[in-house]
Amino acid sequence: MVKKWWKESVAYQIYPKSFYDTNGDGVGDLNGILAKLDYLASLGVDLIWISPIYQSPMADNGYDISDYYKIDPIFGTNEELDELIGEAAKRHIRIMMDLVINHTSDEHEWFQKAKQDIQGPYGQYYIFKEGVAGGPPNNWRSLFGNSAWEPVEGTNFYYLHTFAVKQPDLNWENSFLRSQLYQMVNYWLDRGLGGFRVDAITFIKKDVTFQNYPADGLDGLVNMSTVSLNQPGIEVFLNELKECTFDRYDCITVAEAPGVPYSDLGAYIGEKGFFNMIFDFSYADMDLTNGEWFKPTNWTVKELRDLVYASQLAVEAAGWGATYLESHDQPRAIYKYLKAENRHYYGATLLATLYFMLRGTPFIYQGQELGMRNAERSDISQFDDISTLDQYQRALEFGLSAEEALYHMNQRSRDHGRTPFQWNGELHAGFTTGEPWLSVPDTYKIVNLEQQLQDEQSILSFYKQLIQLRKHSEYAQTIVYGQFKPVLLAYENLFAYERILNDQTILVLCNYCEEPLTIENCYDVKETLINNYKQLAVCKEVIGLQAFQCVVLAINGH
Ligand code: GLC
Ligand code: CA
Repeated sequence: MVKKWWKESVAYQIYPKSFYDTNGDGVGDLNGILAKLDYLASLGVDLIWISPIYQSPMADNGYDISDYYKIDPIFGTNEELDELIGEAAKRHIRIMMDLVINHTSDEHEWFQKAKQDIQGPYGQYYIFKEGVAGGPPNNWRSLFGNSAWEPVEGTNFYYLHTFAVKQPDLNWENSFLRSQLYQMVNYWLDRGLGGFRVDAITFIKKDVTFQNYPADGLDGLVNMSTVSLNQPGIEVFLNELKECTFDRYDCITVAEAPGVPYSDLGAYIGEKGFFNMIFDFSYADMDLTNGEWFKPTNWTVKELRDLVYASQLAVEAAGWGATYLESHDQPRAIYKYLKAENRHYYGATLLATLYFMLRGTPFIYQGQELGMRNAERSDISQFDDISTLDQYQRALEFGLSAEEALYHMNQRSRDHGRTPFQWNGELHAGFTTGEPWLSVPDTYKIVNLEQQLQDEQSILSFYKQLIQLRKHSEYAQTIVYGQFKPVLLAYENLFAYERILNDQTILVLCNYCEEPLTIENCYDVKETLINNYKQLAVCKEVIGLQAFQCVVLAINGH
């Protein structure tokens, strides 16, 4: 097993618009991250992924880039990023940026030129096709709703957009365009960047037949993720990307790679994989049918456990993974994974332990370490996220009432993870002295950093314990590199697994339900490393767990 710094890291994701605002314009900025570096260092993280900060019209909050070489003025300047990288390095923290190269903004100079001259060189940067019978070239549906094709005014051409209309897809078949992208990646790595989280990368290779597929909805369309994910031939692009960029640096790459079957994982994250690790989505959306927010499932703890374990075993066999509970695309974990009555300290810390002790590099999303809550809205107009507006429309078309549709958006909106970080109990949670771009939910009065810093029993303190254990204890190597082994599978509401390295064995037990549980076993407990309750009932060969109790135990091997 190969040791790497990025396997031993604990990562923290920042959504820059909502982290900390230093100039009162209501939007977080790079100086805000700089101002809070000491907090992040005290938390114990050593890797920060910042969601996109490039120049952007912000149709999708920065995931629509109009200049890859320039930091958007709303966040600051290129020099301020240099300073942030330097100051972070002093604290042994590396900075990662988002790499969004499946598409650009329609306001990118390349696209502006392309539209003027579709058959010219810039036209080759994007995917233009002629319409068919007065309609789009085929029946593909964008991930944000409606046809994935948008007509170019005054022509018979359409351009392809996997995501929003303002996010035209780049044409990866064009080798010159690819070389332009690689140059840009190296520009940032040369500036001292620690690496990249690579956005939507499994979409870059299209099905070049551009044929129609059987519809999967009443609109006669088929989802892009059914027809254009992880297509044969993508390995040529991904290998080239790696060889021309990442391989030349000691950097970290984490790919957002939906649609990769476990049988293909080796190509992505193996020894010679395209990336160091990927985010596996196999359980992130287990509460949804076909990813539709308005079609919830009745998932059980056992089903979640089966998916998590299957993911762990597949990733372990292939290489390395990134583990996470939350992101800027997800509601808050305590809402997604817990019923209303269980969104308490024990529930939140159980979820934290459950994923943090898995094999893989853990990512903490800003505010997760406080147990930040969803921000319920009373009207659809109060949402900002384009995906929410689209899902709402789809829910109505599906036949739900406005009230029902709103209910589902309140369960699932991406805005829940995007509300400003709750620093203290003052106005706007101390995020800004101006008007926040997205309103702060009232819960900031009870959930905020200042209050949790003073509380040894807080969710924050618990996260710190987990980080300490993973990074600085005598069990650190076992937690990072140890083999993952599911145990005690007969208990349906129990997440139980071992991590084994040489002569050390760690046992993780998470009683994911309201009922106390008695486990009969033959474990010989050496030491309790983590416990979200004050006590643990161990009596001879029986371990008793309270509702939502989680423990990490060092045990004598067997
Ligand atoms: C990724 C991002 C998401 C964005 C999309 C389009 O899924 O995480 O926020 O909307 O890509 O770039
Ligand atoms: Ca600002």
